[in-house]
Amino acid sequence: MTYASPRAAVLAGIGSWTPPGVLTNAQLASRLDTSDEWIRSRTGIESRHRVTAGTSTSDLAVEAGRRALKSAGSDAVDAVVLATSTPDELCPATAPSVASRLGLGRVAAFDVSAVCAGFVYGLGTAAGLIAAGVAERVLLIGAEAFTSLVDPDDRTTAAIFGDGAGAVVLRAGRPDEPGAITSLVLGSDGGGRELLHVPAGGARLRVPAEGESRFLQLRGREIFRHAVRHMGASCREAVARAGWELSDVDRLVAHQANARITAALGGALGIPLERAASNIARVGNTAAASVPLLLDEDNADGSLTPGQRVLITAFGGGLAWGAATLVWPSLDSVGGPDPSGGPHVHDITDITAKES
Ligand code: UT7
Repeated sequence: MTYASPRAAVLAGIGSWTPPGVLTNAQLASRLDTSDEWIRSRTGIESRHRVTAGTSTSDLAVEAGRRALKSAGSDAVDAVVLATSTPDELCPATAPSVASRLGLGRVAAFDVSAVCAGFVYGLGTAAGLIAAGVAERVLLIGAEAFTSLVDPDDRTTAAIFGDGAGAVVLRAGRPDEPGAITSLVLGSDGGGRELLHVPAGGARLRVPAEGESRFLQLRGREIFRHAVRHMGASCREAVARAGWELSDVDRLVAHQANARITAALGGALGIPLERAASNIARVGNTAAASVPLLLDEDNADGSLTPGQRVLITAFGGGLAWGAATLVWPSLDSVGGPDPSGGPHVHDITDITAKES
């Protein structure tokens, strides 16, 4: 599916939030058969933020959403789209609660579920609402308390995933304005569903029987290859639809799944690694929050500057993937991801303990 419309969705605000709890590789290695060296060298991850008991996706989404609205200079939105695979409850959607807690009135609010591709799918959804004239301004949030899906005793997934939220405000505008989403490509392949999935807890397997898990199952090596292939193809298509060459791309903002995936993608596209944004060392893989969290950090620290040609891409469970292009606009930065002044190591006993 591709999106093209004379009434464009234009980036007008950005914000993010990560919970204060930090789980380091050393802490993981103290209780699992893994090591700081393995995790760093195979993934690029050094630590990740984790929610503690009592904090859920909506809490992260509200914090990121508040910052994005402040950055946009206005609370006026017609819709809240929340990209997440870790809703507070299976039913209803989490977005209405987020909209209500942000005091946004009776706006349209719903969740989009596309795991790590959630933010690019959310971009398509928000852009579609704007193109159709259903909304003038949309708050799009990617938020994940991915901890809730991760088996703390599974050394692979426990080392990779983190929690956080990023948000943007999109407004109706012209396609030639800075910040306008100039091309958007989305795709999926349900044949790869079992490469990254939570078998039980949904309508198919309501209660896990023996051998079935309510935790995330990841076939890492296979999904790695799909990630590079599908992000690569969608990037090429998005760049072509924008009328750019790959050499025009100033900043590649790829979903932070693994530093080696970003390197392989950059290599396949011929985009030098110094143009590829990265925060995976500090946040790990935050699924739907990954891209907006990275955009906000890059905007806050000046890595992203107005006028740069930005290529966004993401890939994840589903399988689902996508890519988008835009020229970076001037956006106010509101405190960055951790206004408390950098990562703090909190008591993470309840993060690492296995829930019953
Ligand atoms: O978010 C979008 C979707 N997610 C992704 O795109 C993730 C893509 N995949 C990956 O990032 C990587 O495949 C992983 C990081 C998940 C795994 O890295 P890998 O280099 O592909 O390792 P592997 O799965 O081939 O496993 C190699 C070995 C295995 O041991 P044996 O069977 O060779 O004895 C694993 O059990 O590494 C072992 N292993 C670990 N060892 C120490 C897996 N996780 C760990 C760990 N510490 N944390």
